[in-house]
Amino acid sequence: MTRDLTVDGLRDVKDVFFNSFTGEEALITYPVISQIITKIPQIMSLCLGWEQEKRIVRAIAFTPAFFDSSSVISAYILASLAVHNTYQENGTTINLINKVKKDLSDKGIDALLVYRDPSYYGKYGFEVELGKHFIPPYKLQYEFGWQALMLSSTQIENTEFHFTCVEALSDATLW
Ligand SMILES: CC(C)(COP(=O)(O)OP(=O)(O)OC[C@H]1O[C@@H](n2cnc3c(N)ncnc32)[C@H](O)[C@@H]1OP(=O)(O)O)[C@@H](O)C(=O)NCCC(=O)NCCS
Repeated sequence: MTRDLTVDGLRDVKDVFFNSFTGEEALITYPVISQIITKIPQIMSLCLGWEQEKRIVRAIAFTPAFFDSSSVISAYILASLAVHNTYQENGTTINLINKVKKDLSDKGIDALLVYRDPSYYGKYGFEVELGKHFIPPYKLQYEFGWQALMLSSTQIENTEFHFTCVEALSDATLW
């Protein structure tokens, strides 16, 4: 069952992050989702948890990309995803991803962006080639990890869209 992630669920979210990422990675990734949940108005971000046995075992957070006001495109960045290691590899994370795709598509969002392992996100339809149309505010350390997925039929050929992002992601070391 999915539920919105709020400050009340932070303890579970922390548990998920420290039981999926390595300790070193969790020290970087948990503060990002924690900041998104606590500081960004719910109407602006999309933070969902998947509850099982009365606790959150999967957490996902999307935040908006901010384009020039004349831009024809809208997009959200997949800022965080983690699945508690007890619940990994059972193929149900796709339900969470599909729910997000539907919610953001219903909102009229054109594209989703992610900066992570393409061998994982490729299976959800993210493409490295498409990502090249979206220019992040920071230089990417691993260009091969930058991907996009279109939710709408908006045509983006031959166009580059520059964007900025929320404060939680406005840190060059995350890129
Ligand atoms: C990556 C992660 C979210 C996958 O969650 P999950 O619930 O196990 O995912 P699913 O059940 O939908 O998919 C499992 C599949 O993805 C594969 N997979 C898991 N992590 C992967 C990775 N980093 N790269 C490529 N494939 C990966 C598994 O081998 C499995 O493959 P299969 O379907 O062919 O058997 C989870 O392992 C996790 O939280 N990892 C630590 C945090 C992290 O790295 N987050 C960022 C994701 S790149």
